[in-house]
Amino acid sequence: MSTQHGPQGHGPGGGTRRDRGVLRTKSIEQSIQDTEEPEHALRKSLSALDLTVFGVGVVIGTGIFVLTGKIAKEQAGPAVALSFVVAGVVCALAALCYAEFASTVPVAGSAYTFSYASLGELPAWIIGWDLILELALGCAVVAVGWSGYVRSLLDTGGLHLPSMLSGSHGGQFGFDLLACVLVLVITGILVLGMKLSSRVTTVVVGVKVTVVLLVIIAGSFFVSGANYDPFIPPSRPSTAGGGLTAPLSQLMFGFAPSDFGVMGIFAAAAVVFFAFIGFDIVATAAEETRVPQRDVPRGILGSLAICTLLYVAVSVVVTGMERYDQLSVDAPLADAFKHVGHPFYAGLISFGAAVGLTSVCMILLLGQSRVFFAMSRDGLLPQLFSRVHPKFGTPHRSTIVLGVVVAVVAGFTSIDVLAELVNIGTLFAFVVVAIGVVLLRRARPDLPRAFRTPLVPFVPLLSVLASLWLMLNLPAETWIRFAIWMALGFAVYFVYGRTHSRLAVRQRQRDTA
Ligand code: ALA
Repeated sequence: MSTQHGPQGHGPGGGTRRDRGVLRTKSIEQSIQDTEEPEHALRKSLSALDLTVFGVGVVIGTGIFVLTGKIAKEQAGPAVALSFVVAGVVCALAALCYAEFASTVPVAGSAYTFSYASLGELPAWIIGWDLILELALGCAVVAVGWSGYVRSLLDTGGLHLPSMLSGSHGGQFGFDLLACVLVLVITGILVLGMKLSSRVTTVVVGVKVTVVLLVIIAGSFFVSGANYDPFIPPSRPSTAGGGLTAPLSQLMFGFAPSDFGVMGIFAAAAVVFFAFIGFDIVATAAEETRVPQRDVPRGILGSLAICTLLYVAVSVVVTGMERYDQLSVDAPLADAFKHVGHPFYAGLISFGAAVGLTSVCMILLLGQSRVFFAMSRDGLLPQLFSRVHPKFGTPHRSTIVLGVVVAVVAGFTSIDVLAELVNIGTLFAFVVVAIGVVLLRRARPDLPRAFRTPLVPFVPLLSVLASLWLMLNLPAETWIRFAIWMALGFAVYFVYGRTHSRLAVRQRQRDTA
């Protein structure tokens, strides 16, 4: 697939460079010009520090607080620290691509906007649709995880919610009231404005990072070297069984499904990848950033570097405190402290986790509302969602609609399966962005790029391969669900977006003039 070369038709009013049906692209100048229309303009108030705080705020969450223990216990042992490194490298490669795109196209909508400028309308729509998996579904998943921590704190205090209002467990239906209420409260905060949400986030991120540092520093006094032996437990046949629950890579290449060993590190990386989801959301706030060309790359790479360091440190400490096969699956960080006889620390950590997960939910929902906003502004979704509130300067309609839908999903959702779906959706977006960087370099070498991905096309190609490798390590059934979701997206585009697209409308107006 290629885009057109040469500068013709790039003028501010140009819109498409040439109409190519579903592959029509929206020029970078048009993207930036659209953001300057008064009724569509978001307030520019964020700095590099705000963005880094956003990044850390959304990245550290369920992944490190919940998945570390489960994955160490079932798939990687103490080598889960290496899985975090693998997932971190995959994300760093993608981050280098995201940073170039975000500094070239400083417009709300992240990978969606980038794709519209480079690959064309249909690929952009597919990415926007795919991002719903990452952002909206991710928000629902984290809200459910948050609700679990809060219930555990309430239980400790002697308050017990009725099981009908505590979510679904073991095939038994229940509505997750806490998760639903959390999402609705966050929606209200986001509608009131970016600056308020950013302030709330700063406090919450502070609490969360303090708790993570507490685990690392206090926990290091209880590490026993014997717990690292073996550091990479020997490979053994998978307990999850084969069939559609096995990683697609094992089915494709005819391996017997197995846990642990060196391959276990990679399979674990595909799951702990969830812990890194969110750094790309920094790019979605580009349009609300004061100096996007400088601050967005700093925010993305900075938050990713901080989180990788913290994850590796936390997993090394926790697997050193308690033998990997004894770790708790629900609250491993807190329970490791109970194991070494310090329940006070355990309570503190549970509290910090509950506080910390609120910021993850908030930023995921913020990112989703901005992608939705951008898609609506382009006419691929109904235009009423891209009106900005006259007083608060936020896209209130898209935020409220999404918030209510996510609150309902969070009320009825269980975590496990959906987290894998979130991962595959996000990795797919990484693939498209990396390809987009190469295509945009070819199609528009003239554009100013405050941040340039190094070694193009080598780094983007490596990013594509790394993301695909992690995707292949996810279960076959996750691929099937992903395919169904994307097929639904195609249907919506061809029924609505293709004819209502602003580019299509402009083209028709030009044709009839
Ligand atoms: N990275 C986020 C988390 O771990 C989504 O919860």
